[in-house]
Amino acid sequence: MMRLALPKGRNLSTALAAFREAGLRLDGVDVQARQLRRRLEDEDLEVLMLKDWDLPLYVEHGIADFGVVGADVLDEMDGDLLVPARFKDGGCRLSLIGRSGEIPEAGAQIRLATKYPNVARKLVATRSWGAEIFKLSGSVELGPLLELSELALDIVQTGQTLRDNQLVEIEVIEPVHACLVINRASYQLHRQRINQLVRSLEEKGLVL
Ligand code: PRP
Repeated sequence: MMRLALPKGRNLSTALAAFREAGLRLDGVDVQARQLRRRLEDEDLEVLMLKDWDLPLYVEHGIADFGVVGADVLDEMDGDLLVPARFKDGGCRLSLIGRSGEIPEAGAQIRLATKYPNVARKLVATRSWGAEIFKLSGSVELGPLLELSELALDIVQTGQTLRDNQLVEIEVIEPVHACLVINRASYQLHRQRINQLVRSLEEKGLVL
């Protein structure tokens, strides 16, 4: 029996749709479900529903054999996982956001709100301006909106949150996709099954 960790957040519907199209029978697993673990006898699989930020830890420690999590979370956490594929659908981007479209001037010292302090620190190191980084846990747009910070580094998908709060996307830093992640030891144990799943995702054009 293998264990699959699914993220409760924005990537759940992408992961479910792709796995189903690739042939996995995930009966009863959906975005509304409150059950945290579910055995799927037909697939010889147990599905775990995890918070995005916890998911890499569960996979890295072998509690789950494989899972799906955003590249944003992976980049921030720097875990030791295999990442054989990124899902095509549901992509978004990590962007610098502000009240106006202006990038700070060279030498300026600003405040930057984000859920991704490690990524932010690396980014700021490449810029001509400096930043004090505030780590927030969600609704990061509130940073610039309420003037806690000049800028935010956050996910933009549809842009609706920005529009609704009169904020501006100043610069796209990187595209962000949901990633298929695999525990290293699990890959050795279940190589055939995992390879088959990845192949199927590829053949259907569901992954990059
Ligand atoms: C993300 C991000 C934005 C929003 C952007 O939040 O932090 O708030 O989505 O999406 P949009 O461009 O489609 O409006 P998420 O829902 O992932 O969680 P959070 O509120 O905890 O940050």
